[in-house]
Amino acid sequence: MSYAANSEQSAQRKKRRVTDILQRKGGVPLTALTCYDATFARLLEKTDLDLVLVGDSLGHVVQGGDSTLTVTVDDIAYHTRCVARSLKIPLLVADVPFGSAGFSDERLYVDAEKLMRSGAEAVKIEGASLDVCRQISRLTTHGIPVVGHIGLVPQSVHALGGYRIQGRGNEAQQRLISEAQRLVEAGCFCIVLELVDESTAAAVTRAVSVPTIGIGSGNVCDGQILVLQDMLGLNLDFKPKFLKHFAELENAVVNAVSNYCREVTAREFPAGK
Ligand code: KIV
Repeated sequence: MSYAANSEQSAQRKKRRVTDILQRKGGVPLTALTCYDATFARLLEKTDLDLVLVGDSLGHVVQGGDSTLTVTVDDIAYHTRCVARSLKIPLLVADVPFGSAGFSDERLYVDAEKLMRSGAEAVKIEGASLDVCRQISRLTTHGIPVVGHIGLVPQSVHALGGYRIQGRGNEAQQRLISEAQRLVEAGCFCIVLELVDESTAAAVTRAVSVPTIGIGSGNVCDGQILVLQDMLGLNLDFKPKFLKHFAELENAVVNAVSNYCREVTAREFPAGK
């Protein structure tokens, strides 16, 4: 397809807004991915993705760390600005990082404001304690749309005893249903369910009026989200059970760079006159 045809196609696609996401409850599943830079944002813009998240998973993917706890609001704000420059159609959501929601009202409100000023159209907040829901309610009342996130909440990975499936058994299922309902009452327009037992994810999805977006929670939610670099197979060693590599770009990159090295050292590139 030519560049012109592509731009024409993108001109026909409709900007996704919070109201569009809400309307997809129980309908065609929502498609969401993470993104952290303008290069990939430009490519995602050519697809029919509904929602893009500048996730604190950038602590793993971009910063090479082993948790999301080191990521700061300035990190997320910087990457949100990078993505916002190339991304227009999908709804752009930025993650509120560790140490903000639930800790201090003032800090959360300042952080949420910073992320919205960086180009985010909504923020995502982990957890659903009474404190966090009270804070979410204040944000949503004042015009900041919020995505909830329950189940395996990586910012609490140490308290949860590692990256393990959540919501198994009746009691845990009821707890997650109550959390999701509390988030809806606080005004969340959708809820990420991470690593939630599939039957619990289905029960939560039935129990709330807003779309659920699953990751590692089976095929029962109103949509799916994955980390972009993971689904592109940029690190083939990382293959949790729920992940599918839709491409194997690790091989493509390593082959291209190896060919470049071979051609430069053999004086084949650049080609002489
Ligand atoms: O930070 C992130 O990328 C996320 C998604 C995995 C939901 O929270």
